[in-house]
This record gives sequence, C-alpha cells and structure tokens, in this order.
Amino acid sequence: MFLSLLLLATLSGEISSAEATIECASSISGGSCELHNYFRGPWPDRKPCRVARVFFPTSEPELVAAVAFAVRHKHKVKVVSKNVHSHNKIACPNDGSNPGVLISTSKYNSTVVVDEKSMTVIADAGVGLRELIDQAASKGFALVQTTFWDGVSVSGMVSTGAHGSSLWGLGGGTHEYLVGMRIVVPASQEEGFAKVVTLTDREPESFNAARISLGVLGAVSQVTFAVEPMFKRSVAPVAMDDASLEEEYVDLARRHEFGDMYWFPSVKKFVLKRDDRVPVTRTGEGVFTLAGFKPVKASAAKRARLDDERAQATVNSTYYCENAHVTMRSKVSSGSGYLNDGSSFTGFPVVGFNHKLQTTGGCQYTYENLTNLELPEAERLVCAWDFNAHGFFGFDVSISIALSQVSSFIRDVKAILARDPTAMCAIDTYGGLWLRNVRASRAYLGEKRDVTHVEFFAFNHRDSARPQAYEAIMEELEQILLFKYDGMPHLGKNRPHTFKNIRSKTRNLAKFLEVRRKMDPDGWFSSEWSDAVLGIRGSVVSSSDGCAPGGLCVCSEDRHCAPEEGYLCKPGIVYKEARVCTKTSHSTAK
Ligand SMILES: *[C@@H]1O[C@H](CO)[C@@H](O)[C@H](O)[C@H]1NC(C)=O
Ligand SMILES: *[C@@H]1O[C@H](CO)[C@@H](O)[C@H](O)[C@H]1NC(C)=O
Ligand SMILES: *[C@@H]1O[C@H](CO)[C@@H](O)[C@H](O)[C@H]1NC(C)=O
Repeated sequence: MFLSLLLLATLSGEISSAEATIECASSISGGSCELHNYFRGPWPDRKPCRVARVFFPTSEPELVAAVAFAVRHKHKVKVVSKNVHSHNKIACPNDGSNPGVLISTSKYNSTVVVDEKSMTVIADAGVGLRELIDQAASKGFALVQTTFWDGVSVSGMVSTGAHGSSLWGLGGGTHEYLVGMRIVVPASQEEGFAKVVTLTDREPESFNAARISLGVLGAVSQVTFAVEPMFKRSVAPVAMDDASLEEEYVDLARRHEFGDMYWFPSVKKFVLKRDDRVPVTRTGEGVFTLAGFKPVKASAAKRARLDDERAQATVNSTYYCENAHVTMRSKVSSGSGYLNDGSSFTGFPVVGFNHKLQTTGGCQYTYENLTNLELPEAERLVCAWDFNAHGFFGFDVSISIALSQVSSFIRDVKAILARDPTAMCAIDTYGGLWLRNVRASRAYLGEKRDVTHVEFFAFNHRDSARPQAYEAIMEELEQILLFKYDGMPHLGKNRPHTFKNIRSKTRNLAKFLEVRRKMDPDGWFSSEWSDAVLGIRGSVVSSSDGCAPGGLCVCSEDRHCAPEEGYLCKPGIVYKEARVCTKTSHSTAK
C-alpha cells in the first residue's frame, strides 16, 4: 500500500502534459496542473482550475491509494474522466486556499465484463460509453438508454444525471439502469484513509443517492448496468409544421419509445424522431454517425466560428435566419448522419442494432493526439468546439420542465416570435430547441416528475463574458424554463446561476445530503462549487459588474449587464418577471 502511494505520487509529479484536458507544467502558478473541460477553453466563471497534482490510477487498489493520499494529506479531491465532458465546474476540486487534487480515470478502463446470466455489464469507472456498448453488443446485449454523444465515461455519465430520451419503462435517465456500484470513500487512519463500499438496490437509501452523486460521495470505482437482449431500432425523422405543436406535444412525446424532437421556431417546423424498437430479425445494418461530432480540420472549425463572430458583431439576423433553415433541412433530407448500410443513406427508415443507432461521436479520439504537435496547426484534426483551434464556443442551456407544462412553454416561445420573428434564428442555427424526455427518478438528485429537457446553445465570447447579439432572448428563455416552470438544470451543463435553489427541484436533496454525511463526513469530495450547488455553503450567484451575460447572475441592476455597450437590465418581452440584458436605443453607448 505504502509503496503504491509513493509510486503514484512520483508518477503524477513527472507527467508533463498527459491529457488534452489536463496541463501540467512547472510554469503554472498556484498549482502544478490546470484542468480544462472538453471545450479546452475558459470555465463559465472565467477563472482557471489549478490543482496541486493529478493521479492516474489503472486499477481499484491504485484508486484507493489515490483517495487515501488525498484524505491523509487533507486535500480536496475530484475525479475526472478522460475528456472532462461537464461544462460547469463540477470537476474542479478548488476550495478556498485548498486547490485540491484530481484523480483521472483515463487509464482506469481495463474491465468490461458482461454477465450473461444476470444480464448485467460491469465496467471500470473510466470505460468510455462506446467501448461499453460495443462490448455488451458483442455478447448480444444492449444498454437501453445512453447519452447522444458517445465520448463520455460511464461513471461520469450516470453521476451527472445524463440522459437519452424516453417516457417508456424506466425512461431516458442513464442512472435508472444502474444495478450496482463500487465507490471508494474516505476512511479512518486505522482503515488506511480510504475503503471500498459496494452498493446495490438492496440498500436503496445509499444507492439512490449514488445513482446521481455529482462525485461528492466518493470516487466511483465500478458501475454495473442492467442490459437487455440486443434489439434493433427503426429510425425515421420527419419534419412537421409546428402550428398545433402545443396541442400535440404530449402525445408525440409518448408515441415513440426513443423519440425526441428538434423544434425550429423561426422556421415554424419541428423534426420528430420516430425511433422505435423492432425485432432483431428485421433486415438492416444501419449506423448513426453525426457529421458535427466527427473530427474536423482545425482550419474548418475556425472558419465556421469566424462566420459566426462576424454575424454576431453586425447582429446579422439574415445570416442566422437563413442558416436556421439550413440546419433544419439537414435534420431530414440528407439522412442527418443515419446510414442505411453503414456507408450511405438511401432513405428512412434506417434500421440497425441499438448500439449502432443510439449514440455517436468520433472527434473525442483526436484528443489523444492534441498534445502531439507534429502537424501544422490548421491541418490538425479536432472537435468542432475546440477552443484552441478557435472553434465553436457557446453556452449549453439544458433545463427540464414537467411534461404537462411543455405546451404552455411552446406558447410562450410562439408569443416571443410574434413580437420578434428573428428572435430565435441564432438558436435555431445552432440546432434549435432540442426536446428529450426523462421519467421521474429514484435518484435523490433526479427528477421528481416526468419531464422534457429543453436544450439549446447560445454564443459565448472568447475574450470575456460580454453580452451576445441575442442576449435578451437567450436569458428570457432560460428564465422562463427556470422560474416560470420551476425547471431543473442538467447538473453537468448550464450556466452557474441556474443552480441556485435546486433543493425544491430535486427529488430529495435532504436524503442525498444525509448519505453524503455518512460516506464523506469531512467533505473531501466536495468543493466550493459543489457545496454552493447543493446549498450547503456559499453561492453559485455573483453580483459583479457584467455577471448576467457570463451566466453568473440574473441582472437586477444595469451594471450586471453592459451599460457601456448599451445593454441594460429590463423585463422580458413575454415573461415580464424575467430580468434580461437588453440592448436599448436610449442607452449610454458611445
Ligand atoms: C482504454 O483506453 C485506451 C486508451 O484510450 C483504449 O485504447 C482502450 O481500448 C480502452 N479500453 C477499454 C476496455 O475501454
Ligand atoms: C448578413 O448575412 C447575409 C447572409 O449570410 C450576407 O449576405 C450579408 O452580407 C451579411 N451582412 C452583413 C452586414 O454582414
Ligand atoms: C489524430 O486522431 C485522428 C482520429 O483518431 C486520426 O485520424 C489522425 O490521423 C490523428 N493525427 C495524428 C497527427 O496523430
């Protein structure tokens, strides 16, 4: 034990630049390593996450040793996956003067065991979703629900409450399919400062806390999912007129087992993904491979972003309203990444095995060679959202509201459009409003009711948190979802202020905190950020100048916006209770 501690400590000190998301160098001040998320750009608060050191365990005993090191030396500790997919600071251990340490699961991914008898699959925390579902498929099994992007780790996926889409069975939440976990928690000195706890649904209290834990109970070592015999899906998206969407919504949401919807309000159309289970004997070798998730040349990522920046600078609604149509049409006409036989699209429906159609990715594999700088910069392959390549950079807003309230939300958006037909064009260009469904959860940090997650992207400036061209609309939509419909922010996405008062929105925060006090009484796995999110201490909200465009507050004074650029704090145009940074003609702008 002591020897492995020493080895780990030495190892972590020697790593100079092991991961695209973790930079370690003696030149980094205040700590020896810096953590980025998968954008590889600034965190929402524009402050770096610097940590004292990083551990890269390859096995459970090494994971235990890393946790023991942190607890023994009184370091805050957070576990991160290879690609650090969460947008907010959930992965950052910083807490006052304690920078904390990181445990990366990027090298802890050797075990994926499919047990045919119990119909389960056990995986090490760092196993990637794609690896897990491919291995389960090779034994004839399917993981029913997953995220849409396959570059997440299986433990990070469940711990943030990530989801697919379904109102059938257990619903779209990935954490609902967990049947067991092993978690490394702090322990007394006599116990060696860390120990492994095994959880199953036979102890529902702890297990329902651990299903979605934000990493604050301990370091997840292994997860066990229930799987089903492999099945196929038949996928056939269809574009429809949105004139009576508010009346049809709930029926459409329930109609297809894996259905979701992209709504493009400015185009007055929505794309319903008719996505259903079919027998495995049905002919079809379809695959899903979304162009936007494949590696792109750094130069192409930059070109797209520069176009976006130009259109923002001139508030060019023509640009966005034209591109909203392009984005909408691409969802159906070209197959939108669905390939009938694995190489070409000949028409819907596309039928194929569940694991070939349920999730997609590709560019995450380029992270592995981002630290290899042989190629000229512009030729390098990256994800389209790579910050260093000057790629897409935005906020990801994802807030769930009760299924029964989506119709009313649809009416609100239509009312905004009636006031300003161009209001939604930028959001539609980035993909529109994506509606996915999740059922009421057993997880204490999960949903209280059957919900629809409403997700959209908004432009973010690279240099500092300044208002964007469509700031007021983005903020009004966010506040309608959060306040008018008491929406719950997705825990791994969203701007910081959205996490204020999540207590009443989660199924049972009090019980979650009770379990946390048992598993990590001293809070080594908690940080300033997680304590603020969970309402234990501090605040996710700031009142600094310009806090609203940065997502750090809802404005209540003009200085929270950008009065020098003409953005003042005003009521929303439809939801009057909203307070949004609005560009005014009677401004103090120069
Ligand atoms: C573990 O990660 C390595 C490096 O990314 C990868 O090559 C390997 O396939 C992964 N193994 C499993 C079981 O996921
Ligand atoms: C606005 O966008 C349109 C369509 O892309 C383009 O033709 C036009 O030149 C742009 N206008 C300005 C002022 O940049
Ligand atoms: C980087 O990764 C991508 C995707 O795996 C691969 O196609 C490409 O050849 C790699 N480039 C370099 C320089 O290693």
